[in-house]
Amino acid sequence: SRVVKLAVIPGDGIGPEVIAEAEKVLDAATAASDVTFDKTRFSLGAARFLDTGDTLTGDDLTAIKSQDAILLGAVGGVPGDPRLKDANIERGLLLTLRFELDHYVNLRPSKLYAGAPGPLAAPGEIDFVVVREGTEGPYVGNGGSIRTGTPHEVANETSVNTAYGIERVVRFAFDQAERRRRRLTLVHKTNVLVHAGAIWKRIVDEVAAEHPDVAVDYLHVDAATIFLVTNPGRFDVIVTDNLFGDILTDLAGAVTGGIGLAASGNINPDGAFPSMFEPVHGSAPDIAGQQKADPTAAIGSIALLLDHLGLHDEAARVSRAIEQDIASRDGTARTTAQVGDAIAARVQA
Ligand code: NAD
Ligand code: IPM
Ligand code: MN
Repeated sequence: SRVVKLAVIPGDGIGPEVIAEAEKVLDAATAASDVTFDKTRFSLGAARFLDTGDTLTGDDLTAIKSQDAILLGAVGGVPGDPRLKDANIERGLLLTLRFELDHYVNLRPSKLYAGAPGPLAAPGEIDFVVVREGTEGPYVGNGGSIRTGTPHEVANETSVNTAYGIERVVRFAFDQAERRRRRLTLVHKTNVLVHAGAIWKRIVDEVAAEHPDVAVDYLHVDAATIFLVTNPGRFDVIVTDNLFGDILTDLAGAVTGGIGLAASGNINPDGAFPSMFEPVHGSAPDIAGQQKADPTAAIGSIALLLDHLGLHDEAARVSRAIEQDIASRDGTARTTAQVGDAIAARVQA
C-alpha cells in the first residue's frame, strides 16, 4: 500500500475551520483505497508569529520539503494589525513557500455548478482554468523605497519576467488547453507594460506554433475583467502573470458562486518539490471562529491534490460530491462542519 506524506498547515482565521472539513473529506475519499496519508501538522501563520516571532524557520522548510504534498488553509492576520507590520506573513511564509518549492504553476479552476449562487443574471456555462505564474512578476520583492515616509518618497516595485519562467508556465498552459477545449487566452497589459508584455506575447506565439490545434487569443487585463462578467463562457485556459492572475481569480471566484468555492493548486510540475493545495481565499478574520466559512474551496483543493497524486478516481468522487452538495443548496444556513459532513457523506455514498 502507498503512503503519502502530507504536510497540513491550517494557518490563521478560518484556515483551521476549513482544513478540518477538508481532512474529513480526504479521509472519506481514501477510506476504501490502499493509500494512506501520513500527516504532519505545521503550526505556521500570524498566530505562530505573534506567539514565537517565527514566520518560517529553516527547520520548518526542511521538514516541509521532505513531504509529498502540502495542504494549506490560509495565513494572515487582521489586515492593518500593527503587531504584524514587519512580519509580513504573506511574503515571509506563503510566498516563501511558493518560491522555495518552485510552484511556478498556480492552477485555479473556475466552474459554475448548477445551483451555485452566482451574481450573474445569465452566466451561461462557465468552465475555465487560470494558469497563473507563481514565482515571478511583481511578487518577487524586487523593489525599494528612498526618502521613505517623506513627501519626497519614491517607491519602486519591479516586475521580474524571465524567458525561462514564462516558457515553462506557458507550456503547462498549452498542455492544459490540449486536454480541454483547446482555447488559450493570454491576459496581459501589452499596451502599457511594453517590456514584460512583449516577452509574454513572444513566448506564447512561439509555443503556439507547436500547438496548431489550440486557438490562441489575447486580451488586455482590463478588458478581460469585462468578459469575465459579460461572457465568461468564452474562456477555456487563461495564462497570465502572477499579479494579474491573483486579481482575475478572485473575480472568477465571485462569478462562479463566491470565493468560498474557489480551489487552487500551487504546483511544481517537475515533482522536484511538494506541491501545495489551498483555497483561493484568505483567513477571513471578519468571520473567523464562527463556523460561517464555506469549506468547499478547501475541499475542492483536496480534489486537486488527489488528481495531482494520480488518485483520479478519488478526486472524481470528491468533485462529484461537491457538485451534488452545491446542487442541493437551498439557502438554508449551515455551519462549516455541516457542509463538510454533508460532502464527506456523499463521497462515501
Ligand atoms: P479574504 O479572502 O480572507 O476575505 C475576503 C472576503 O471573503 C471576506 O468578507 C471573507 O469573510 C470572505 N470569505 C473568504 N473566504 C470565505 C469562505 N470560505 N466562506 C465565506 N466567506 C469567505 O481576503 P482579505 O480579507 O483580503 O484577507 C484576509 C487575510 O488573509 C489577509 O491577511 C490576507 O493577506 C490573507 N490572505 C491569505 C491568503 C492565503 O493564505 N492563501 C489568500 C488571500 C488573503
Ligand atoms: C492568493 C493571495 C496571496 C497572493 C497573498 C496572500 C500573498 O491573495 O493566494 O491569492 O497574492 O497570491
Ligand atoms: Mn489572492
